[in-house]
Amino acid sequence: MSETGHGAHAAAEKWNKAHVVPNFRRRFVNHIPWVRNYIHFLYLNNETPFSILKRELGSTPVDNALELAGGRGDFSLALLTAGLARNVRMVDLSESAAKIAREKADSQGIKGFVVETGDVNDLRIDDKYDLVTFSQSLHHIFALEHILGEVRRALKPGGLFYVSDYIGPTRMQWTDVQLKYMNDILALMPEHLRAQINPDGSDAPSPKTSVKRIPLETFERVDPSEAVRSADIDGIIRKTFDVVDFHPMGGTISYELFRTIAHNFDVADQSVQALLKTVLYFEHDLISRGVLNSDFGLYLCRAR
Ligand SMILES: C[S@@+](CC[C@H](N)C(=O)[O-])C[C@H]1O[C@@H](n2cnc3c(N)ncnc32)[C@H](O)[C@@H]1O
Repeated sequence: MSETGHGAHAAAEKWNKAHVVPNFRRRFVNHIPWVRNYIHFLYLNNETPFSILKRELGSTPVDNALELAGGRGDFSLALLTAGLARNVRMVDLSESAAKIAREKADSQGIKGFVVETGDVNDLRIDDKYDLVTFSQSLHHIFALEHILGEVRRALKPGGLFYVSDYIGPTRMQWTDVQLKYMNDILALMPEHLRAQINPDGSDAPSPKTSVKRIPLETFERVDPSEAVRSADIDGIIRKTFDVVDFHPMGGTISYELFRTIAHNFDVADQSVQALLKTVLYFEHDLISRGVLNSDFGLYLCRAR
C-alpha cells in the first residue's frame, strides 16, 4: 500500500491513533481470554497458535525472525522471551506502535529486537530469515502477491512462514447465510447484552438490533487497509508455499455478531458462558460440516 496506491497514509493515521487508545480491543469477543481458550479447545485441541509454532520450530531457537506488521510488538517479544528466536526484526506502518514496541523491549531488558517503520506493501526483504510471521495483520495488505513472493525468497532453506489471520470476506461483506445466522442469534439476546460501545470504548447511544454489511465507503474513510483483499489470502498462500499445517479458527458468525457488544459478556456469569459456548460450538460444527467457511485461520508454511 504505497502512499499513492492504496491508502497507506490513512491506514497509518488510523493505526497511530488505535495503538494508543486504552482498551480499544475490548470490542472483540476473541479478545476475552476465556473465549480465546474455548476457541483453542474447539479448533486447536487446546493448544495455542504460539505453542503450535513452538512445536514446529523445535527446541533450539532460530537465529533470525522477521515479523511483518507487528503492531505493538507482543508477538515479536514473545518469540524472544520464549526462546523461539535469538533476533527479531519487526516492521510496522505505525510510528506509535513501533515506539510502544521499542519501549516494551527496553523496559523488559529484551535484547535482539529491531523495530522499523515501513509499508509492507512496498517492502523488499534483502536478508534471509529462519522464520517470517504475520499475526492478525496480513489482511491489511493489498500487495499480497508481492509480499508473499518476498517472504518466499527471504526464507532460508527449511525456513518457516507463520500466518494467523482473518481470511474471511473481503471488506467484511458478509454472505447472506452469515447475516442470517448473526441476526437470528442477535434477536434472541436480551437488551443488556446488546448495549454497544464506540471504537474509543465510550458508550454508544443505542443497542445493537441488527447486523448489516458495512458500506464500502466506510472502509475508505476509516481504514482503507481493513480486510482489503482478505478473501484472496488463502489461495495466494497455497499457490506460493507448501502449507504444512492449517487450522481453521472460526469467527464466521461470532466475530461480527459480538463486535461492539463483547464488553457485556462477563464470563464469570455461567449463563453468559453458556450462551457464548452455544454460539461458538454451533459455529464450529457448521464449519466442520462445510456449511460455513472459517473466517480465521492458522497456517504454517515452507517455501517450495
Ligand atoms: C490488527 S493489528 C495487528 C498487530 C499485531 N500483529 C498484533 O497481533 O497485535 C494490524 C497492524 O498492521 C499494521 N499495518 C497495517 N497496514 C500496514 C502496512 N501496509 N504495512 C505495515 N504495517 C501495516 C498496523 O499498523 C497494525 O499495527
